[in-house]
Amino acid sequence: MEKDVIILGIESSCDDTSAAVIRNGVLLSNVTASQAVHEAYGGVVPELASRAHQQNIVPVVDHALKQAGVDRSDLSAIAFTRGPGLMGSLLVGVSFAKGMAASLGIPMIDVNHLQGHVLAHFIKERDDDHHQPQFPFLCLLVSGGNSQIVLVRAYNNMEIIGQTIDDAAGEAIDKCSKVMGLGYPGGPIIDRLARQGNPLAYEFSKPNIPDYDYSFSGLKTSFLYRLRDWLREDADFIEHHKEDLAASLEKTIVDILMKKLWKAARDLKIRHVAVAGGVSANTGLRNAFHEYAERYHWKVYIPKFSFTTDNAAMIAITGYFKYTDKDFCTMEKPAYSRVTMV
Ligand code: KG4
Repeated sequence: MEKDVIILGIESSCDDTSAAVIRNGVLLSNVTASQAVHEAYGGVVPELASRAHQQNIVPVVDHALKQAGVDRSDLSAIAFTRGPGLMGSLLVGVSFAKGMAASLGIPMIDVNHLQGHVLAHFIKERDDDHHQPQFPFLCLLVSGGNSQIVLVRAYNNMEIIGQTIDDAAGEAIDKCSKVMGLGYPGGPIIDRLARQGNPLAYEFSKPNIPDYDYSFSGLKTSFLYRLRDWLREDADFIEHHKEDLAASLEKTIVDILMKKLWKAARDLKIRHVAVAGGVSANTGLRNAFHEYAERYHWKVYIPKFSFTTDNAAMIAITGYFKYTDKDFCTMEKPAYSRVTMV
């Protein structure tokens, strides 16, 4: 009988400390400690994030192993996010993972965070879970820091065919939410308000840039200027119209994202289309995926909420694929803050 492959995954690239255990590709545990400390600042404060990772990493890893019923001596390898992300945050997970792997004498596997988001679609929760995308597929990767269209030919063969030339979609939502005084992170708040508003109430500027690239900074500026004009006429404009503003903003962003994705799918004749990253939690975007599936006969893949935001399960599954390829990392490879995709 073949030996089980058991991978511990560790994610600490931003403000979530997460650890997960995967056995033979099937998820056994996925534990995440989020950091509420940033809410008061309206954004992630890097120094506070790395301090919180230091406090969380040991209990989170311990919890993930216990929940999985796995002893550390059973582990085949440790996979960790090496980048991109906040350097202070990454250093905590990278150093911990390297130290633990070295002390156990098992391989260490470095994972690109963005590749992890894409491969989240391959996390199995049961042996008989067969809802994985077929290669090649397109993946719209939308988060607080990225908006990309990725052509995925295989687990280890991905190409970014389009990306934002300025702000990311999540960043635009968060900034517009901030100027409306709604709080941080804005995505879930805008989503909730949008459900009660009219998406056709206001029209905001849409970019006109070539190929499959995105741009969201013009939208952000037009939202800001128009809001300023409206507030001059009615000081309570936001309070009176926040649902319509949220719904119209969300519709504009979803339309921009879907238009380029549709163009790429048409040009490349690909009908398997996935979405990944924190913004894929958005209800309007999820609904748009279902509509396109019906209208254009796409087969769409939308991850579970817990696998859309930063999590270690996606790092562990990527580690599992790299383990089967014997694609290991060495001690001297450092964390990296930038680089969009391997
Ligand atoms: O992938 P992610 O968890 O991590 C970073 O990129 O940091 O994405 C976070 C982004 C934030 O901009 C957040 O506002 C957005 O995802 N987000 C949402 C929703 N939930 C999270 N955006 C729209 N609707 C949501 N329901």
